[in-house]
Amino acid sequence: MPNGYDIAEADSLAPGKARTVEVRGRRLTLVNVDGRFHAIDDACPHRGSSLGEGFLDGCVLHCPLHGWGFDVTTGECEVRPDKPVKTYPAVVRDGKVWVELDAA
Ligand code: FES
Repeated sequence: MPNGYDIAEADSLAPGKARTVEVRGRRLTLVNVDGRFHAIDDACPHRGSSLGEGFLDGCVLHCPLHGWGFDVTTGECEVRPDKPVKTYPAVVRDGKVWVELDAA
């Protein structure tokens, strides 16, 4: 994980929960789906609401503003396939969640 960053303690986010984290000047939403962590861009592609304030249904995170659903494993948007959200690889190592940002 060459561009990996330690962004949270794994036990700080319970299964079924999401929250916003900041890393290297970017806002990401970190999600725990049944113990597996996923990271996506925090800004909703619709009108920019914080997806970290959204609610999770399985692996679909719903935007708090208008309810668009995003599959956090792929970034796909249920209602607007042309408006996916970017995903980032996330792993747990030594009790911490690491996220890989792209090199840019
Ligand atoms: S701002 Fe997210 S669905 Fe409208």
